[in-house]
Amino acid sequence: MAPVSYTMTMINAREKFIGPLIFPPIYAIESIILSEEGGYKMRLKDKVALITGGGSGIGAAVARRFAAEGALVAIGDVNLQGAEAIALEIRKNGGRALAIKVDVRVKVEVSGMIDEVVKEFGRLDILINNAGVTRDNLCARMSEEEWDFVLDVNLKGTFLCSQAAYRPMRKQKHGRIVNTASVVVRGNMGQINYSSSKAGVIGLTRTLALEYARSNITVNCIAPGFIETPMSAAMTEKTRELALERIPLSRMGTPEEVADLHLFLASDEANYITGQVIFLDGGASLGI
Ligand SMILES: NC(=O)c1ccc[n+]([C@@H]2O[C@H](COP(=O)([O-])OP(=O)(O)OC[C@H]3O[C@@H](n4cnc5c(N)ncnc54)[C@H](O)[C@@H]3O)[C@@H](O)[C@H]2O)c1
Repeated sequence: MAPVSYTMTMINAREKFIGPLIFPPIYAIESIILSEEGGYKMRLKDKVALITGGGSGIGAAVARRFAAEGALVAIGDVNLQGAEAIALEIRKNGGRALAIKVDVRVKVEVSGMIDEVVKEFGRLDILINNAGVTRDNLCARMSEEEWDFVLDVNLKGTFLCSQAAYRPMRKQKHGRIVNTASVVVRGNMGQINYSSSKAGVIGLTRTLALEYARSNITVNCIAPGFIETPMSAAMTEKTRELALERIPLSRMGTPEEVADLHLFLASDEANYITGQVIFLDGGASLGI
């Protein structure tokens, strides 16, 4: 976010140097400089974005990136401490951010979160359904609790948040929803609950895109591959090695790379894209 203050300094310096009446006008210089500043073009200027699970990993990277692009950011997370730390960091850098404690499995908490965002920021333009969990086990050994927990957070949570976000988005006749699936929808040993939940998110995305289109709300889905976050850090060294062998680009992705795609789908550049699932996986889902 440093770019904004740096940019203002640059504009002031240039204004003094060339004088305010000389072409090109300052607003033109401003837009040129902003577009040159590490890619921060303020593509989400004054948009209100809610990111679930934004207190860690990919969600935190999305929150930072959106704030750097001018969005007012709400971070909903069951881990309030994590959400507050990211919100504080954004505020220190000159942005506006709000942390909200929420368990996305609980309808009343989800609708309270949406109300709080609208009360604080006046609207809701973008919902990033990112909160997610794993509880890995082979099918034969998996408990009902492990199954329910993962399905409830990953799939039901996405449903509840998308349902609650509809009210303000429909009123505005504008909205962007980006859901989170995973490359493991193709199947992965030991993740029957997780891959089923993420495959469900894809079905949800496509149906919701149909239902919400008339309100000018787009619904898309990102399916990340192996991304360096606290979630993937739980992998054993052996699993990590096997995973890397299956990635044509031979490395794990970064949360920032996932945030770049979120930014595109949340921006006006993606106005005509809806119901799509984009794999962001270094090619891991290709081939046999
Ligand atoms: N890291 C990867 O390799 C990878 C790959 C594919 C998909 N994903 C998906 O990306 C998303 C983000 O994953 P990550 O790697 O950043 O994980 P992470 O564990 O770093 O972050 C997940 C966040 O979700 C929050 N959360 C968990 N349960 C919640 C609940 N009930 N209510 C609200 N918040 C809750 C956690 O507190 C945490 O802040 C998840 O949906 C995950 O399934 C991750």
